[in-house]
Amino acid sequence: MSWVRVCGVAEVPAGGMRAFRVEGLAIPVLVADLGAGRFAATSGICPHEDVELEGGELVAGRVVCPGHAYEFDLVTGRCAHDAALILRRFPVRVVDDEIHMRVDLLGVSG
Ligand code: FES
Repeated sequence: MSWVRVCGVAEVPAGGMRAFRVEGLAIPVLVADLGAGRFAATSGICPHEDVELEGGELVAGRVVCPGHAYEFDLVTGRCAHDAALILRRFPVRVVDDEIHMRVDLLGVSG
């Protein structure tokens, strides 16, 4: 199991989210501050119609896609509007104020 650095904790807006490029991944990684020192790392691309999620909003642990306002839970990946859509998530950890994700091209899909 291999972990890679995504960003520094300070690079993620408090209570917000930001997309980052990670070497070896074709997709941007969305990192969200869930509060209390918890972070989520997900695909930065909406599974509905491939819109980049960074321009959306973070509301109560969900990212609201700027495309059609579908909401995705950042922990479970579930879509509040279409049960068939799951946002890909990645295992994440914080080490010395840096956020790392596990390199896993398939991520967690369910
Ligand atoms: S592209 Fe994200 S909800 Fe449609």
